[in-house]
Amino acid sequence: MQALVLAGGQGTRLRPLTLDVPKPVIPLAGRPFLSFMLDWLEDHGVDRVVLSCGFLSDGVRRVLGSRHGALHVSYVEEDEPLGTAGPVRLAADLGLIEDRLLVLNGDLLTEIDLSAQLARHEQTGARATLALIAVDDTSSYGVVPTCGDGRVEAFLEKSPGPAPTNRVNAGCYVLERDVIDAIPAGRAVSFEREVFPALVGHGLYGFPVEGYWKDIGTPERYMEATRDLLAGRIGSRLPERDGSGSLVPGCCVVEGASIGPRSVLGAGCRVATGARVEGSVLHAEVTVGRRSVVQDSVLAAGVRVGDHALVRPGALVGTGARIRPGVVVEAGARVAPGAVV
Ligand code: GTP
Repeated sequence: MQALVLAGGQGTRLRPLTLDVPKPVIPLAGRPFLSFMLDWLEDHGVDRVVLSCGFLSDGVRRVLGSRHGALHVSYVEEDEPLGTAGPVRLAADLGLIEDRLLVLNGDLLTEIDLSAQLARHEQTGARATLALIAVDDTSSYGVVPTCGDGRVEAFLEKSPGPAPTNRVNAGCYVLERDVIDAIPAGRAVSFEREVFPALVGHGLYGFPVEGYWKDIGTPERYMEATRDLLAGRIGSRLPERDGSGSLVPGCCVVEGASIGPRSVLGAGCRVATGARVEGSVLHAEVTVGRRSVVQDSVLAAGVRVGDHALVRPGALVGTGARIRPGVVVEAGARVAPGAVV
């Protein structure tokens, strides 16, 4: 089975983390984010993945390479953003797509049952089958009411007003080749606004799915996903967490520091004596000075925090930024890569 992962967005909501690191390879619980999705695809029998990249694509290729376990990984790079459906057509025109294709939004951390979705697609003879997940607040998703037999009745992308169902588009589709060939070539095209609304009544089916599902595209959801992985609320191939529910690789230097609860340190971090890192994510090679405190925040690779500094909750500090000794970084602050605070 073949899958195409949409991984070419700019990730504006995760800035400044995504200003110099593409969202698909931002570390999540110490691993490139997309590696969780590749594990899940492999578990469901996918053996070939096309990564559709645009923004900062070299970075994705460098980190993920051409193999992931049993998966063969190839890349398509677009010169201009082609939206969500346009990249699928481009990959098909380049001869990279076979007859039936799974398409995934690249921000998903999930364990929904892809094998069951594929089986249902076969049974119904659908042209396209969308995974539908139940959510509490439908307002930022595409709401998809279906008939009893699974046929989609309407595709209501982020529309205001009361929703007819709490089942929304989970960003996971099975498509037959004729659907791909009908996507207009050479321009940006949206599945959600063009392709799926036009397919209603013409072979578009929904498949209700259960289980862990989260899109990590905002800072809040990135932190939630981190906590869920640490707590084992979603299965993963992560190493064992320590007594405080944290991940601290052996190559970090943390003597005399307090790490946790629920924190993640990347390779080569150094946290000095008397410092505290609480509920936070440090990417690789971060240093935290003596008696400094980092609370519920994300420090990107190479950030240096001086002695006696305080990083209050919800801060995102970009690659290589420097927090001088004694500085207080306010709650929710955004610090640009390389900045000196
Ligand atoms: P925000 O800027 O924060 O909204 O993030 P985003 O750019 O990733 O956009 P969004 O979350 O809406 O995108 C959903 C998925 O589609 C993500 O996996 C994106 O990487 C991907 N995506 C969005 N636009 C494009 C595009 O033009 N080309 C490709 N190849 N993928 C895209």
